[in-house]
Amino acid sequence: MKFSFNNPVDIRFGRNVLKNNPGSLSLGKKAFIVTGSSSGRKSGALADAEVELRACDIQYQIFEGIKNNPNVDQCRELAISASEFGADFIIGIGGGSPLDAAKAVAVFSTNPCLTNEKLFMNEFDTPPLPIAAIPTTSGTGSEVTPWSIMTWDEFNSKKSFGNLYTYPKIALLDPSYTDSLPKDVTLFTALDAFSHCFESFLSLKASPYTDAVNLYALSRFSKCMDPLERGELKDIRDDLMLVSLLGGVAISQTGTTMMHAMGYQLTYYYGQPHGKANAIVMPVYLEEAAKYVPDKLTAALSAMGLSRNQLSSFLERNIPADFNIKSNEPAFWGKLAMKQGSVKNLPILVDCDYFTALYERIFKSRIV
Ligand SMILES: [Fe+2]
Repeated sequence: MKFSFNNPVDIRFGRNVLKNNPGSLSLGKKAFIVTGSSSGRKSGALADAEVELRACDIQYQIFEGIKNNPNVDQCRELAISASEFGADFIIGIGGGSPLDAAKAVAVFSTNPCLTNEKLFMNEFDTPPLPIAAIPTTSGTGSEVTPWSIMTWDEFNSKKSFGNLYTYPKIALLDPSYTDSLPKDVTLFTALDAFSHCFESFLSLKASPYTDAVNLYALSRFSKCMDPLERGELKDIRDDLMLVSLLGGVAISQTGTTMMHAMGYQLTYYYGQPHGKANAIVMPVYLEEAAKYVPDKLTAALSAMGLSRNQLSSFLERNIPADFNIKSNEPAFWGKLAMKQGSVKNLPILVDCDYFTALYERIFKSRIV
């Protein structure tokens, strides 16, 4: 047996986490806060962060305008604002998009001449500014990963970067920030967290350490599935944030695999929320996993107390592939999926045709 595990994030979890951890945002003297147009305020996280920063006499500037699927060029512009302000650390508040944007702003702040190509090859010379991450959804796990997923129009899809330098220094997780999220957002983000645990468990890079994390997270998630379906969310908010955290810790080591590589195209071309896109791919992913990693699939399902059919029906009931795609898209998307780094984490060798055939299986009569 041989493996390594290196996740350097200081993790604090619990309701009132900022109040209970005074000084936790003291990563410098001037903070540039990156958040969504409403997520920071609606969740209460931004107000809590401002109280904490004022108590520590830390100056700050706020940018409230990160949209879903952040664009790499917008982050480059924001880094100029952060530098003009003199920021010496970045705070990301929000769902995956603001947290991922915070990482890009942190990198561009110290590497202003970095090209997009070099960013996505992780070729930056100077370490980014320190990052504090405060999630307001339970899905991305970005607060404990080095990964940042950006929309890159020249690439015609989404693309990720990340290395040991882009981990947040601290992650502050307060489930109360998710209390007011609507049912669909809660479901989609939960399915993202779930897909992280599942893919990580089946990843070529999985280790006994990540297996332990993922099996526990999968068992916790399975207890949330009925309440998620019924929309009875109050009592599962803490569990969902825990699953999101554990999934993030796991993919920080193993990366994601096929659902993400294929799902990005559904988001880029049809605006599907990230977690929903993954879930649309999942039934076919389960069929494939049954062929190439049957023992691990059985272990994952047994941790959840479900059969493959039960899980697939849950997904198809709640997340139907309810839109049409064009006849040329499976082949085009197959090529794009193959360019995703996460494909390397699959325990089988695949090619563009493999993904094309899977897209055709997913959409069947919906290809027009
Ligand atoms: Fe994801």
